[in-house]
Amino acid sequence: MVKKEQLYEGKAKKVFATDDPQIVIVDYKDDATAFNGEKKGTIVGKGVINNQMTNHLMRKLEEAGVPTHFVEELSERETAVKKVSIVPLEVIIRNVSAGSFSKRYGVEEGIVFEQPTIEFSYKDDALGDPLINDYHASALKLATWDEIELIKKYAFTVNGFLKKTLLECGITLVDFKLEFGKLADGTIVLADEISPDTCRFWDVKTGEKLDKDRFRRDLGNVEGAYQEMARRLLGK
Ligand code: TMP
Repeated sequence: MVKKEQLYEGKAKKVFATDDPQIVIVDYKDDATAFNGEKKGTIVGKGVINNQMTNHLMRKLEEAGVPTHFVEELSERETAVKKVSIVPLEVIIRNVSAGSFSKRYGVEEGIVFEQPTIEFSYKDDALGDPLINDYHASALKLATWDEIELIKKYAFTVNGFLKKTLLECGITLVDFKLEFGKLADGTIVLADEISPDTCRFWDVKTGEKLDKDRFRRDLGNVEGAYQEMARRLLGK
């Protein structure tokens, strides 16, 4: 596979064309942002960990019946993935109250829900990724009703798998954000990443935060948290 011109640069990844029109290469950076890009920094080694963790989990999710964009890990930071058009929805599942849920509804962090919740944000930086519901998403033609139903089904399957897998590593999966994409033939697949950037991970015993909240909230030992997650999940 030949890496060609850069197609796009996002906050945490770059995307390159290849000689195959159906395949692109994602290249994970160490750059970190929060609060819609207002806060900027670097988390040394993050790109390598997020690349490897995402690929590990996407391989397993394929086995669990969730189609993904993953094709092949090419290097520490680079992965070949299927080219998709991203469905402009951030799909957020929560098992425990935290973050914007706690803020919006005025509840403490750490309340364990009887059932997971699902919500959508409209992926639009200029609007600040506003919360929307499935009817709004359908009205705005961000996805069809059937696509939204399928995305919800996949998101809950991901939650079931991730929750169990992480618990085996002594981690509570508090919440996470997924993005889905559409292949040229219309197939919906899981895209983007699953990493400490996009999930909240708390140590089961101590409650220690092992995710990007350490960066967002200036809690210190940010790199250590990413390394600890890599050790627990990937054994390195
Ligand atoms: P929130 O509590 O800030 O809404 O975040 C919910 C989850 O989504 C959390 O695991 C972090 C993740 N997330 C992203 O991946 N990208 C984002 O831009 C935001 C705001 C949250």
